[in-house]
Amino acid sequence: MLNSYSGWAAAATGFMLNNDLLIVTGALVGSSGAILSYIMCRAMNRHFISVIAGGFGTGGGTPAAAPSGEAQQPAGEVVSVTAVETAELLREARNVIIVPGYGMAVAQAQHTVYEITKLLREKGINVRFGIHPVAGRMPGHMNVLLAEAKVPYDIVLEMDELNEDFPDTDVAMVIGANDIVNPAAQDDPNSPIAGMPVLEVWKAKTSIVMKRSMASGYAGVDNPLFYKENNRMLFGDAKKMLDGVLAELQS
Ligand code: TAP
Repeated sequence: MLNSYSGWAAAATGFMLNNDLLIVTGALVGSSGAILSYIMCRAMNRHFISVIAGGFGTGGGTPAAAPSGEAQQPAGEVVSVTAVETAELLREARNVIIVPGYGMAVAQAQHTVYEITKLLREKGINVRFGIHPVAGRMPGHMNVLLAEAKVPYDIVLEMDELNEDFPDTDVAMVIGANDIVNPAAQDDPNSPIAGMPVLEVWKAKTSIVMKRSMASGYAGVDNPLFYKENNRMLFGDAKKMLDGVLAELQS
């Protein structure tokens, strides 16, 4: 939205200065920013106006269906695993879906992800990537990083293309993602992210979440996924942890 505003401000300046070039370039920036904001609002199931007027996960924005009470507090036991155990789970899997998020970008772990993917595919394991429309902090953030690491395009799929495949998946490996795999978006109508489409990783036989702590993501919302019986947490920097997984797979 801020990008869009800067474009409209430039276009307005163009009118004041009678400068056609400024009007045209300003209008291009303004309209492309507005279109992008609209696409993101749809991906998050939020009203355009509520995003302009308020925050996301701060109580300031109004989601498509406004929450009427307190969001549920996730409770239960968190089971952590080591890089060696993660490698073991991957080695025994037939179908793996990797869900990258903002943490993969922070850790710059995409090259190790590629090495692991290559190794698993050589062992005949079906590895695919599930990309949420707002994963990371920019549109196409994950696609760009994976392309840079030379991950083949045909195994990088959009959320809608593979969300129904999780029940047939042995391991869903979540790398530095949080909000985009939060089941509260579906289960808790009072959650600030209620109604946002998410990748249903908890439906896989085992889900593994790689992150450094129990901290929340961008939306500031607790994630009940971490407490699910079939979920495992691999705590640590994504790059370091994946290096450990790779070393174990290679040994
Ligand atoms: P987030 O929900 O922000 O979660 C990222 C997680 O990565 C954090 O919980 C963090 O946990 C972990 N992390 C950070 N550094 C790490 C590291 N070095 N190693 C391992 N983990 C690390 O990200 P997401 O799931 O990708 O969702 C994106 C969010 O950003 C959405 O809420 C979306 O609406 C918002 N957003 C998206 C965009 C676009 S266009 N994509 C633009 C603006 C906002 P720890 O701190 O515990 O490690």
